[in-house]
Formats: sequence, structure tokens, C-alpha cells
Amino acid sequence: MSKVSDDYHDYVFKDGKLLGQFDDMYRHSREVPWHQDKTANQVFVDLDIAILKHFLPELGIRSICDLGCGLGYVAARLYAELSPLVAGLDVTGIDVSSEAAARARLLHPQLSFHGIDILRDDISPWQGRFDLLYVKDVLWYVALDAGQFFDRARELLKPGGAIYMLQSVPDRPSFVGSDIFPTTFSIAEFLSKDFESIYVSSTYEINSNRVVGNYEKDKYLRFLGRKASH
Ligand SMILES: C[S@@+](CC[C@H](N)C(=O)[O-])C[C@H]1O[C@@H](n2cnc3c(N)ncnc32)[C@H](O)[C@@H]1O
Repeated sequence: MSKVSDDYHDYVFKDGKLLGQFDDMYRHSREVPWHQDKTANQVFVDLDIAILKHFLPELGIRSICDLGCGLGYVAARLYAELSPLVAGLDVTGIDVSSEAAARARLLHPQLSFHGIDILRDDISPWQGRFDLLYVKDVLWYVALDAGQFFDRARELLKPGGAIYMLQSVPDRPSFVGSDIFPTTFSIAEFLSKDFESIYVSSTYEINSNRVVGNYEKDKYLRFLGRKASH
């Protein structure tokens, strides 16, 4: 019998191809995949929340869907930090992995989480439900179906709803999806077809106290845009 891997990377990409075995990954990983419990409290998400707070009144947000929410750590932060500003704020998490959704429900019982594959499952019960989709670090797992992903994401939104996306773009020559989205700007351009941009930034963010010439840098895209009516 072959040994079941406890390294989460083994369930995501293999030999330059997307495996996408997210349920098995959440079940067997010895670490929290992508260290979501820690990254949810890093400066990257502080910035997202500051931007969202700035635009909250303009956007009239009452309901948020964290799409590709994983274990729900960021969804819990969004709720904790935005609900004092929005009476009756509702935050829902959606992830392809039912295992992740079940764990997220235990970790954050104040929120609701659902195991739904945004690309393939029936999303009709969720159509037109949300004012804001928050999508953090999901693109590389859906890049090959990006058109379908954003079409279906749009369906989850109310008319006039908005998307906020934070996406890191690794500073490496090639990886799955890099031929489709080689730069932060190419992602923003793609999104601009379906969402009228409100705020866009592209930054190098180095999460370390050591900066050296050949230090690996990731670029980050932040895109806030309103669902275009077409
Ligand atoms: C890198 S993790 C990011 C998790 C969380 N957004 C965060 O930043 O902490 C990517 C997540 O996208 C989810 N995902 C991948 N494909 C998906 C799909 N088709 N529908 C919904 N979720 C998906 C994975 O299960 C995984 O939890």
C-alpha cells in the first residue's frame, strides 16, 4: 500500500500540472495548508481590510462571500472587523473542499461555510445573494478555467455587487497559469472585462526583515471592482 502524503503541496500541483485534490489535502496535511491560520493575520490582510473599510459606505455592503475561503480564517477576520461597521453583516465562506468547510464551521461557528466547487456545482441557490465577493489567492487553482470562474462568481453577486481580489503572482519564470496571467496587470485587465474597477494596486511586498538583491519577491494584485451590467 502506498504511503499517504502529509505534505499539502503534493495534492495541489504535480509535474507542472494542476492536481487539485483539495479534500484529500485538507484531510491529510500535517501543516495548515498555506499556513492560513498565520497568513490571515499578516499585513497583506490588514491592507485588504483597510481598503474595504474605506469603500464600505460607497459599496453598501451587507453580505460578503469569501470565495475559496479554505479554513475560514480570513472570513472570520472580515466578520470581526467589518461587522462593527455594518449592522447585520453576513459573511459566508465557500470552498471546493467539504472537508475545509466542515473544519471552518468548527473553528468559526459564528459564520456559515459550504463545500461548493464554484466551477462545477449547482450554484443556483446562491445566485444574486452577495454584495461583495472576497477572493484571496485562488486564481492559480482556477486559472485554466478563469472565464468560467469569473462568470460564475458574477452570478453570485447582486446587481451592482463588487469583487475584491488579492492575488499573489510568484516571482518565478513559469508555473501553472503563468502563460495565461504572466503579470498582475494581465489579471486586472481580464477582470476589467466583467467588473468596473474602483481600486487597483500592484505591489511588491516583502514579508521579511531581510532584503537582499536576489531575495524572492512576489507581486500582489489588489482589485476592487463593481459587477458590470452586460
Ligand atoms: C491558497 S488557498 C486560499 C485559502 C484562503 N482564501 C486564504 O487565503 O487563506 C486556495 C483555496 O481555493 C480553494 N479552491 C480551489 N478551487 C476551487 C473551486 N473550484 N471552487 C471553490 N474553491 C476552490 C481551495 O480548496 C483552497 O482552499
